[in-house]
Amino acid sequence: MRVLGIETSCDENSVAVVEDGRHLLSNVIFSQVDLHKIYGGVVPEVAARSHIEVMLPTVQEALERAKLDWDGIDVISVANGPGLGGSLLIGTLTARTLAHIFNKPLYGVHHALGHVYANFIDWTVNGKRKIKNEKWREPKFPLLALIVSGGHSHLLLLKNHFDYRLLGQTQDDAVGEAFDKAAKILGLPYPGGPSVQSAAETGDPDKYLLPKAKLENKYDFSFSGLKTALLRQAQALHGKSYNFPSSGLPALLTVSEVHDLAASFQKTAVAMLVDKTMTAFEEFAPKTVVIAGGVAANTELRRQLKEGLPIAIYYAPISLCTDNGAMIASLGYYAATYKKPDNPLELDINPSLTL
Ligand code: KG4
Ligand code: ZN
Repeated sequence: MRVLGIETSCDENSVAVVEDGRHLLSNVIFSQVDLHKIYGGVVPEVAARSHIEVMLPTVQEALERAKLDWDGIDVISVANGPGLGGSLLIGTLTARTLAHIFNKPLYGVHHALGHVYANFIDWTVNGKRKIKNEKWREPKFPLLALIVSGGHSHLLLLKNHFDYRLLGQTQDDAVGEAFDKAAKILGLPYPGGPSVQSAAETGDPDKYLLPKAKLENKYDFSFSGLKTALLRQAQALHGKSYNFPSSGLPALLTVSEVHDLAASFQKTAVAMLVDKTMTAFEEFAPKTVVIAGGVAANTELRRQLKEGLPIAIYYAPISLCTDNGAMIASLGYYAATYKKPDNPLELDINPSLTL
């Protein structure tokens, strides 16, 4: 079964074709990062307008790269929530229209759950199915998933496809969002995750002791206090009070201060994720642990988890960790296997869809 997956929930316009949930036939990603860079974050209206411009060419290119026409597509899936309303609307209306015109079953799927399914793809790239990565193994249930991105921080226990329990989630900022805000405080470029990571490489992670949040549910997360603690530490370094605007800090901080602050921030943020993942591992004894979402690209997170867990962790290559159509197509395959299709005349978006 070949599924065409459409992802437009935030600032990536992506369409992919995946066969049987695992073989990647094409994965076209148009990232809007350069459009939003000058604003230091995603501007929803700019994102939606860009999605309109590139949507149909991206669909076309995904088919061309997969060497298929519409006869070769069995199912269409689309991330219809959660995300930015305007952005979700473009992908969802496109999927509905295509499903209607070409008479294909349509499935609206959950964007954050989609991140987990990047790990069900066998790492074949762009139709070259012979270069299968030998290290890839199909994830097994029960599966513990740490979903960490710019919009989500979830710890999810899956007993099977669509049979899961949300163990915990962030009570304020998502961890990727915290990385992005930390980068802004330190004067590092957007997106903040990769730039904090590279600044941290030459910094001392033990230079500043930043607090870890304690929450009632042991599996919930909170990152907003950590971001504020970073700000206070940076202000204090130069004798400034908490009234001093964060926008003035990058001009004051030395390069080595920025690197030490980035390293200390990263160490603490990652430790919070790792502590909870390890606790859940001990309690639920999953057969597979996957990290998913943009922050799964973080090398310190991978290192700490590798060190702490007795089993190998799963993570996808970076192009499948950040937002992409392939994960939506893979999840679409399982949706088509387990569920009834959505009505192409009715499928709605849900910007605040929960798990
Ligand atoms: O999954 P994604 O592309 O979009 C959302 O669904 O939000 O994740 C983007 C997020 C951004 O916040 C970005 O800063 C973060 O992932 N990110 C990283 C790294 N690479 C991307 N965070 C930490 N370390 C990284 N290497
Ligand atoms: Zn995402």
